[in-house]
Amino acid sequence: MGNIYEEPEVYDAAHWWKTNDMEFIAGWADRCGSPVLELAAGTGRLALPILERGHTYVGLDSSREYVSRAKQKLAPFGGRGAIRYGDMRDFHLAGKFEFCFIGFNSLLHLLTNDEVLSCFRCVHKHLSDTGKFLIDIFIPDPIFLYREPGKLYEVMRFEHPRGGECVVKERNEYDPETQINHIHWYFFHDPAQEPELYSFDMHMIYPDTMDCLLTEAGFRIEEKLGDYDGRPLGEESPLQIYICGK
Ligand SMILES: C[S@@+](CC[C@H](N)C(=O)[O-])C[C@H]1O[C@@H](n2cnc3c(N)ncnc32)[C@H](O)[C@@H]1O
Repeated sequence: MGNIYEEPEVYDAAHWWKTNDMEFIAGWADRCGSPVLELAAGTGRLALPILERGHTYVGLDSSREYVSRAKQKLAPFGGRGAIRYGDMRDFHLAGKFEFCFIGFNSLLHLLTNDEVLSCFRCVHKHLSDTGKFLIDIFIPDPIFLYREPGKLYEVMRFEHPRGGECVVKERNEYDPETQINHIHWYFFHDPAQEPELYSFDMHMIYPDTMDCLLTEAGFRIEEKLGDYDGRPLGEESPLQIYICGK
C-alpha cells in the first residue's frame, strides 16, 4: 500500500483541478499582509500565488518528500519563500505572522480534538496581535460518510507521471464513535496490473466543534464563510471557512 504523502509528483498531477481556492487565499494574504504562514503546506500549491503577489511566506509540512518538492518550486523567490519540515501539532518558528492559514482540508488530518487544539494553541503563539488565522475544511456530508460499503466511487482522473491516464476510485468506512473516516483510494492506470492503493484517515469536524476548539485556544471567530465566493456559512454550504483574530 502506498502513502500519497510520500509521492509529491503523483499528488500534484492528481490535483491539477484544485485551483478554486487560490485567488481566495492569496486575497486574504493581501488583506492581512506579510509574513504569511501556511501549515500543512504540501508541495507549495498555495505558496506560489502568495509569493507571486510579493509576500513573504513560510510553509510547514510533515512530509519530507513534499517539503523537498516545495523547496524546488519556491527557489525562484529566494529568501521570500521558505518551507520547513515540521508537525502542525507542535512547532516553533522564529517571529510572528500576520496571516496564518490551513488550506484544503488539511486540518482534518489531525485525528482527535486534542490534536486540533494543540495545533490551534501553537498558531495562537505564532500570530501577531493584529494577525488573522484562516481554516478551510469541508462540512461532513452524510451522503459521503454512509455510502454503500465496499462500493468504489470515481473521484478524479489525471495524467499519471509514470504514464497513462489514471482513474481514481474510492471507498470509505466511517466510524461515528471516533468521527474518523477511513478512506481508500484505488489508482487504476495500468490495465496489466492491480490498482495501486493509498489509504488515509480524515477526522470529520462539525461547525459546533470548530467553534468550541477555536474559542478554547483563545481565538475570536470574526467570519464564518460557506464557500470561496464569500457567502456566509449556512445549511447548504459545502465548506466551513473560519477567519479568526486573537
Ligand atoms: C491535502 S494535502 C494539502 C497540501 C496543501 N496545503 C495544498 O493545499 O495543496 C495535506 C497536507 O497535510 C500534511 N500534513 C498531514 N499531517 C500533518 C501534520 N501533522 N503536520 C504538518 N503537515 C501535515 C501532508 O503532508 C500534506 O502535505
